Amino acid sequence: MNKSFDIKDIKVIQAPLAGVTDRVFRGLIRKFGSGCLMTTEMISSEMLCNNPEPRIIQFEEFEHPLSFQLVGHKIDKMTKAAKIVAPFADVIDINCGCPVKKVVVSGDGSAMMRTPKLIYEIIQSIKEAVNLPLSVKFRLGWSLNEENYIEFAKTVESAGADFVTLHARTRSQLYQGSADWKKIGLLKKELKIPVFANGDIKTIEDVKNCIKDSNADGVSVGRGIMGDFTLPYRIEQYFKKGVILPPPSFEEKISMLKEHLNSEIEFMGEKNGVKFMRKFYNYYISQERNCSKYRSVLVRLETRKEILKVLDEILSLHYSNSR
Ligand SMILES: Cc1cc2nc3c(=O)[nH]c(=O)nc-3n(C[C@H](O)[C@H](O)[C@H](O)COP(=O)(O)O)c2cc1C
Repeated sequence: MNKSFDIKDIKVIQAPLAGVTDRVFRGLIRKFGSGCLMTTEMISSEMLCNNPEPRIIQFEEFEHPLSFQLVGHKIDKMTKAAKIVAPFADVIDINCGCPVKKVVVSGDGSAMMRTPKLIYEIIQSIKEAVNLPLSVKFRLGWSLNEENYIEFAKTVESAGADFVTLHARTRSQLYQGSADWKKIGLLKKELKIPVFANGDIKTIEDVKNCIKDSNADGVSVGRGIMGDFTLPYRIEQYFKKGVILPPPSFEEKISMLKEHLNSEIEFMGEKNGVKFMRKFYNYYISQERNCSKYRSVLVRLETRKEILKVLDEILSLHYSNSR
């Protein structure tokens, strides 16, 4: 835990992406220079209370500042889980945004937006038990007819939350359509605590437009980092100095992809690492002309050697394209 942590120093939050944002992912963000606030994947408070395995709670020094994201709807379990992770955390975040069916059926994730009294009590209970900043990540509401993000956020603020992150879509939208950054602007006018904008931020141009629409205190970035680990650092440089650093070239992206693959294999072994990387190829290569067809080839390969060979082929194609 980083004793000097202050949310006012943070402009970028690495958004939690279950099944994506592991230690290697965070290591590469740090390698490319970012001091962003990292977030764990969502951790079930029930599971943590029943089985507090060290693997779930222990992180490396470089991963800090680190927010532990808890999901659940029971006051006692959420409070106990917060106490378990507190010695390792810089922030406790509560997930009120996950739209996935198996999460919302039990009243967790974005279903929590329908029970504001409960979130109030959970926040108060955690704040009493743990001396750490607390944040809440949520959506616009359950559906367009049930948009309650402003009342919900006011409840969260009055319960003692230190900052919030708004993914500007409703639960019913899942990931469809576009995030409505102007609604983050409406929320920003109503709260005293910092507001972080989330949804569809993939470039510095997006950051500029999002801040223009929302006046948010910072941004939370998820899928934009998949395939470009320089993004958090470039956003920070934009906030700090107003400079717009170029995104990585295609060659740099392929070299980043090779490093990502090698590091995951080192971390989890070749079989698991190769499987894990399948979700990333599209993000790394889709924008390059004539290269997206290689995705379906890459996801079928079983060994590092075969993948590296295809990546070299892609690079050769890129060079002949650009001649
Ligand atoms: C694969 C995947 C996993 C996610 N896992 C989580 C999660 O564990 N907790 C959470 O609050 N949001 C989760 N999200 C939502 C993201 O944190 C983020 O709100 C959303 O992707 C929009 O931001 P983006 O456009 O920058 O990706 C997930 C999204 C994706 C695509």
